[in-house]
Amino acid sequence: MARRKLLVTGVPPQAVIDRAKPAFDVSIWREAAPIGARLAQQAQGQDALIVMPGDKLDSSAIAALPPSVQVLGTYSVGYDHIDLAAATARRLPVFNTPDVLTDSVADLALFLILAAARDTTAAERTLRDGRWGPWAPMSMLGRSLQGMRLGIFGMGRIGQAVAERARAFGMHPHYHNRSRVSPDGERGAVFHAELEGLLAESDVLCICAPSTPELRNAIDAKRLACLPRGAIVVNVARGDLVDELAMFAAVHEGQVRGIGFDVYRNEPRIDERWLRLPNATLLPHIGSATDEVRTAMGMLALDGIQSHFEGRPAANLLNPAAYD
Ligand code: DGY
Repeated sequence: MARRKLLVTGVPPQAVIDRAKPAFDVSIWREAAPIGARLAQQAQGQDALIVMPGDKLDSSAIAALPPSVQVLGTYSVGYDHIDLAAATARRLPVFNTPDVLTDSVADLALFLILAAARDTTAAERTLRDGRWGPWAPMSMLGRSLQGMRLGIFGMGRIGQAVAERARAFGMHPHYHNRSRVSPDGERGAVFHAELEGLLAESDVLCICAPSTPELRNAIDAKRLACLPRGAIVVNVARGDLVDELAMFAAVHEGQVRGIGFDVYRNEPRIDERWLRLPNATLLPHIGSATDEVRTAMGMLALDGIQSHFEGRPAANLLNPAAYD
């Protein structure tokens, strides 16, 4: 039997390639620009694809895939870039990479909370620009995390891991989630049935919710006004959960005093107004970017693809109905 063909639309760690090669003829899209509209053509004759979170697989991109493609993996836990209903209708199973990136994203959330509370980006710029003056009691003052209320919007795996870390800094976790989580998941975090109720109690808001059509723009001007004045906002989830214009206004008006963002609309070509915000730590979507985690993500995507060909779909299958 001919060897199966696998196309990966970004360059994974070598260990992932080494694992894939004995099982597949592997092609890798190595250009710096995303594969974009060239996907349909590059996928000709491929049996399986592993795509990147920046590859948009809307219904027309899925319809354009050649019939040879039987299974899809995404190098991400988030799958807002894939029209799952269209994939299911085409009987295309889709696998993602949950769990393995939980800790690294939660670590980065804490980094961003600290950076925003202490305004470390501006402080570092002071040093780098040669503007560092004598030690003075009132210079470069931030806020202490101890005793602050941390509002977690989205109490899934990552939200819970953020809460666990925040407790070590003396913060008090609160959360809003579609449904209340178990006492084991809560570990004393205060549940708010309404997002507005959570925001009113959030000295720091950390956005960890998935991007779903219902949650797009969830953090808009009205909701930002619910925060206590001078709150901090951190986003490690997806850019489209936030109304960016409302966010810029809230920062300029002082309603929000500091932000730490890892995700934006239109990555990587983000709105230039982000760059002019004071007290902002802005990272280029690196939540899962450690060697260990990116390797584990690649392995998990491969597990999914291989499980499909072995006829026993793995637990990271997103659309079991594709097999109906
Ligand atoms: C994910 O896996 O969804 C992350 O955002 C990629 O780092």
